[in-house]
Amino acid sequence: MPALDASATRLQVTIRQTGESFGCGTAQSVLAAMAATGRRGIPVGCLGGGCGVCKIRLVQGRVLRLGPVSRAHVSTQEESEGYTLACRVAPCSELEIEVAGRFCKPFFKGFGAGANPQSGK
Ligand code: FES
Repeated sequence: MPALDASATRLQVTIRQTGESFGCGTAQSVLAAMAATGRRGIPVGCLGGGCGVCKIRLVQGRVLRLGPVSRAHVSTQEESEGYTLACRVAPCSELEIEVAGRFCKPFFKGFGAGANPQSGK
């Protein structure tokens, strides 16, 4: 039986606030996959789990942790509620996420409830 090529498997990640989506490998961090597409929906910081700007909340789906998540930015309580760091997790299924870091507001100015980011209005 041939080995599963994790780098070839890409799962869809959708950002709830904007409706943007991109493909992410099952061995790749969600943040790295987003950055590779040139998108900016999730703020990018240290890429190493230390600054917390890429904090997200899983709305739907499951992730695999790729490295430690700083407790200074994601408490055990928050983790149990679905919060994590996009630079530290890879998808195990298709994902719907919410950007939850402290810099999320400037990124979504104008994307209020009911707004359609695809319409360009
Ligand atoms: S980019 Fe710094 S913690 Fe993810």
